[in-house]
Amino acid sequence: MHSNILEKNIPFWLDKHLDFLNEFSLLYKTRPIKNNKGGMLFTHMFYFYLILKNLKPELIIESGVYKGQSTWLIENTLPNSKIISIDIDLNKREYISKKSEYRSLDFKYNEFKNLPNNTLVFFDDHVNHIERIKQSNFFGIKHIILEDNYPTSEGDFQTLKQISNSLNFNHKPGFLSLIKTYYQFTNIIIKKIFLSKYNSDIDLNNINQRIRDAFYNKETSRYLNDLFETYYEFPPLINNNHNNKTCKKPILQETPENILEFSNELLDYNFITYIKLK
Ligand SMILES: C[S@@+](CC[C@H](N)C(=O)[O-])C[C@H]1O[C@@H](n2cnc3c(N)ncnc32)[C@H](O)[C@@H]1O
Repeated sequence: MHSNILEKNIPFWLDKHLDFLNEFSLLYKTRPIKNNKGGMLFTHMFYFYLILKNLKPELIIESGVYKGQSTWLIENTLPNSKIISIDIDLNKREYISKKSEYRSLDFKYNEFKNLPNNTLVFFDDHVNHIERIKQSNFFGIKHIILEDNYPTSEGDFQTLKQISNSLNFNHKPGFLSLIKTYYQFTNIIIKKIFLSKYNSDIDLNNINQRIRDAFYNKETSRYLNDLFETYYEFPPLINNNHNNKTCKKPILQETPENILEFSNELLDYNFITYIKLK
């Protein structure tokens, strides 16, 4: 099942995984949110740190803030960079950065003017990866990080890796979630009937993100291959909960002493991927 068809042109710094492990673990000990279940844990935070340290983007756009752990990481790794933090529900924040510019409109509806060439966009919002790549390309953003790039249906949305395994994501929302979606959709129709000025686009986009079925054909992975200068999926740091066939070999045989306290978090691995567009 494991497909690497898109992996290419890996910059030398991406493979130097362990150079930053110690300094990262010292920073990670000071993180503001100790229980970040549902958000980023040690391995993803470490690889994000590695990318930030090497690329040093002047602007980082993050989509998917949740409690705010990734915002804290960006702010503390690159204190001189600008940050735009997007989440359609900013109420879950526990760490609020004084530096970041928060926005609640979906990435695709934003205006991004005068973007620096090395702008990095970080997607951790469970929105279709293919759409996010197309939108980044539209904005002229070359550096992209994709969280949760699962190879099979174990994620809850269409990922890039699924496309490279010829898998169209078929979402199975729970019964209550479907009823809520039905209620929201009915509301849209009623507003369309009675409110002549009502524009349903954002609400319909929300509906689309509640039922996340996706359809692509075989040409899609070819199109993406042509668009990518680099595709690199980070390996797990250590053995984890995934089937070995679906992910790379871990880079560590044993957990080093200095990160032993994060052993539980190390089990969590989600195929975090870095892409550079041409
Ligand atoms: C996995 S969490 C993000 C974790 C976070 N990066 C961290 O540091 O732990 C996913 C977040 O994406 C948000 N989200 C869902 N749809 C979104 C969208 N269309 N745009 C931006 N954020 C979205 C959710 O509200 C949720 O807070």
